[in-house]
Amino acid sequence: MDQFEYDRMVEPKSKPKRIRVFDTTLRDGEQTPGVTLSHQDKMEIAIALSGLGVDYIEAGFPISSRGEFEAVSDIASAGLESRIVGLARCIEKDIDAVCDSGCEMAHIFIGTSQIHRKYKLKMSKKQVLESATKSIQYAKDMGLKVHFSPEDACRTELDYLLDICQTAEQMNVKHINIPDTVGVMTPDAMGWLINEIRKVVETPIAVHCHNDFGMAVANTISSIMRGATIPHVTVNGLGERAGNADLEQVVMACKLIHRIESRIRPKRIWETSRIVERLTGIKVPPNFPIVGSNAFAHEAGVHVHGILAKAATYEAIKPESVGTKRKIVLGKLVGKAAVRQKLIDQGISVSDADAEVITSRVKDLADRGKRVTEDDLLAIAEDMTGIAGRVAPIILEDLTLHAEYGQNPTANVVVSMLGKKKYSKSRGVGPVDAALNAIKEAIGDQSIQLEEYHLDAITGGSDALADVSIRIGKNGKSALARGVHEDVVMASVLAFINGVNRIMEGG
Ligand code: KIV
Ligand code: ZN
Repeated sequence: MDQFEYDRMVEPKSKPKRIRVFDTTLRDGEQTPGVTLSHQDKMEIAIALSGLGVDYIEAGFPISSRGEFEAVSDIASAGLESRIVGLARCIEKDIDAVCDSGCEMAHIFIGTSQIHRKYKLKMSKKQVLESATKSIQYAKDMGLKVHFSPEDACRTELDYLLDICQTAEQMNVKHINIPDTVGVMTPDAMGWLINEIRKVVETPIAVHCHNDFGMAVANTISSIMRGATIPHVTVNGLGERAGNADLEQVVMACKLIHRIESRIRPKRIWETSRIVERLTGIKVPPNFPIVGSNAFAHEAGVHVHGILAKAATYEAIKPESVGTKRKIVLGKLVGKAAVRQKLIDQGISVSDADAEVITSRVKDLADRGKRVTEDDLLAIAEDMTGIAGRVAPIILEDLTLHAEYGQNPTANVVVSMLGKKKYSKSRGVGPVDAALNAIKEAIGDQSIQLEEYHLDAITGGSDALADVSIRIGKNGKSALARGVHEDVVMASVLAFINGVNRIMEGG
């Protein structure tokens, strides 16, 4: 049985063969509370979206500020593959701004629901309709294509909504968009509404679903199954309040479950999501479908056994197909053989004794509730094998730190240097500086310089493993070294000692 057979059994005839993706990350996505994108950020995201293959990029709301106008203008003139759209209210100066920014299409919207007419616009049904027609005509006279939205369509009286849609069609708008502005629809209701609209208009239908009840993706898919062909989506599901329908989920559900194609290049999904995450500062939750860090992670145990035998046992989507890799999270039940095998898979062979120590470090971390991924394992192994199989000249025996508010911290270290214990105490501008100063003092060598220092968290969260890479130099010689530990100071100290040992051994 095909894994999506049940879904396909209930597909209606109205299901389209293809969709055209309308991305609004740079407009509705930028309305995410706490998000502001610089001109450069917007350009970087637009380039990524175009590379991803979205058909339309809603680049912004050009009238909203000078900076926004300039960013939209630059995106519109960047020669991207995607078509560039600018948002406008039914106001001439908004439409002028879209036109002047060089967008080929204006997304013109006006609130049509009773609540919008009465409280926001203070307009009658007739006035709203007139304003919409005037603006559509104005935009068309300026040579713009029109993507028209009766805002809050899903709370608008059906007969009035159908009137508006028919009027927009008569005026030859390119698309009619049906926004579920406050995310109140359910998949059944949304499918039904799109069906009603398609009974009276032939213009391609877009849908814009918000996620207030967590149904934006389902509502979008249901609309598509009833013949809507232009889903509005955002990368990482960003957008006003709880966000908009998520691009990754809509596209992959269409492709894999319903065999509906789009121009999206799925292999670029993961990378695009990370670009948007970095530039917006909004972290993708680990359990987010497709692009969450756990979306393809499996904890060692029964699932891993199944996965290694046949990936499809516990994976509905191939991680490589969306540009990422499967992660095996090692838990406390992991054994030495599994650890060794995992390392061999990564091209690292370790002795039995090293494998034993590495396994116990993995178990130790897991016991303390930490998630140990393959990347963590590699880092631990590299850290271990840096000193394995030989007696390093310098070994850290003990480190204690003392820090009081307003005072420079003090570090006490005990190192064994060629078998002899050395003690030292030193201050520094911060705990890492204090610890490294104390080590230099203990080994009696102040000429060692820290030339580069780089800190990464291997996994997310405040309990992530810290991965410190450094370059140290002494008398014209330099060495790269790495230290991994759950504590940043310890990771830094281990990296420093590994580096000093390398220099001392001439490596
Ligand atoms: O949510 C909404 O209704 C909108 C409109 C501008 C389409 O974002
Ligand atoms: Zn919206």
